[in-house]
Amino acid sequence: MAGRILIVDDEKDMLVLLQRIISEESEHQVVTESNPQRALQLFRENPFDLVITDLKMPKMDGIRLLEDVRKANSDVSVIILTAYATIETAVEAIQKGAFDYITKPFRRERILLTVTKAMQWQELVRENKSLRQALEAKESNPHLLGSTPVMKDLMERVRQVAPTMATVLITGASGTGKELVASAVHQNSLRSTKKFVTVNCTAIPEQVIESELFGHLKGAFTGAWKDKRGLVEEAHEGTLFLDEIGDLNPNMQTKLLRLLQEGEYKPVGSVVTRKADIRFIAATNHNLKSDINEKRFREDLYYRLNVIHVELPPLRERKKDIPLLSHHFLKKYAQMNHKDVQEISPEAIHLLMSREYPGNVRELENIIERGVIFCTSGTLNVKDLQLDTEEPAFYPEVGAEMGKLSFKDAKDRMISRFHNLYIMSLLRESGGNISKAAEMAGIQRQYLHRLMKEAGIEAEQFRDKEGT
Ligand SMILES: Nc1ncnc2c1ncn2[C@@H]1O[C@H](COP(=O)(O)OP(=O)(O)OP(=O)(O)O)[C@@H](O)[C@H]1O
Ligand SMILES: [Mg+2]
Repeated sequence: MAGRILIVDDEKDMLVLLQRIISEESEHQVVTESNPQRALQLFRENPFDLVITDLKMPKMDGIRLLEDVRKANSDVSVIILTAYATIETAVEAIQKGAFDYITKPFRRERILLTVTKAMQWQELVRENKSLRQALEAKESNPHLLGSTPVMKDLMERVRQVAPTMATVLITGASGTGKELVASAVHQNSLRSTKKFVTVNCTAIPEQVIESELFGHLKGAFTGAWKDKRGLVEEAHEGTLFLDEIGDLNPNMQTKLLRLLQEGEYKPVGSVVTRKADIRFIAATNHNLKSDINEKRFREDLYYRLNVIHVELPPLRERKKDIPLLSHHFLKKYAQMNHKDVQEISPEAIHLLMSREYPGNVRELENIIERGVIFCTSGTLNVKDLQLDTEEPAFYPEVGAEMGKLSFKDAKDRMISRFHNLYIMSLLRESGGNISKAAEMAGIQRQYLHRLMKEAGIEAEQFRDKEGT
């Protein structure tokens, strides 16, 4: 693999010689600089894999330069050039993290061999890093939670399609978990140790999205002063997640179609096509069908993307997942904020379950996060949630509104609210054990069952807080 090398020596002849040797025998890009301070500046502003520096220089010695470049990027390899007289300093350089040293005068082969070894080392460092990142991503990857039938089906579908090469289109309203599903597909695929690269088609300005995706060659346009790798190259052998695909401009839709169909693309400014080995996942909150009707989205691209379709339901259609999600977020934010909040009161759960959530799971997550921050006890209570209780929910402050209702309606509401709160509190006490709860309440098990059914409460919610 071609890398970038910076050579620093106050003797210009030495720079010319080294540049020639390396450029003749390798693909590496070589930059030379006779002033070590300027070299350091260059290093800080540009990516280099290897620095070759003379030891004795007037303005700044090689050891100092070594320390400074490694401070800027601890992964870089540094080779020190030295005369015999200073070999002890060279040993010191190794102790300070230099990759190797070469004594002057040197043989051409010695230079080439050391450069090759340093570059191989760099490749190892990079590989190791991306592996570590993949592992970290896996560990920090939050589980896709849900115990409602729709979510269980969805998770099963994710497991089935993940190991295939099939393109997945994920649709759903904002905050329903599209990105999470995309990353779950990647994590469960055979590509999980390779990269998961996200492209947010909305966030990247129209003029630069092509070069972001496909990369560009030096000189392709004003400002392109060096080659740039695109995200497609980055995702090679991994997964490319095209987020908010509905916002992609028509020109890019055409180029993306080619990439999907033929696995080919061209960096900006290049005439040569490149091949990509990529698994594609796309997501949108648009209704692509109507975008197609209005000629904003290419129909052929839609069919390419829509091989497997995963639709995330809004949170209000899976309210029974709210306790599970709430406890998960409670744990997450309690840990993050070093707070010892372990429980959510049944009243708070009831309030959370009665909302409509236009912002879906993200909105619930934000509410819990805020609640944890304001919570002053070990239990998250209604007041901590700081929700506007005037909203049209199923949890009206019955007292305040009572006079507007008929006697019968007011009484029904009051009773049903009492049932809900009482049953939840009871089940919480019994750890979701219905027989035990009935016994504690002094009522028949069947009667408790009926009340639970009427209130839409399941014992399950009180048993397994963290299940998957
Ligand atoms: N089923 C779930 N289990 C656990 N956490 C979830 C679940 N669904 C969503 N989340 C969390 O909710 C938040 C929003 O999810 P995500 O970013 O995936 O939504 P999105 O559909 O991509 O939203 P947008 O359309 O706004 O980009 C994230 O923090 C995510 O971890
Ligand atoms: Mg998203």
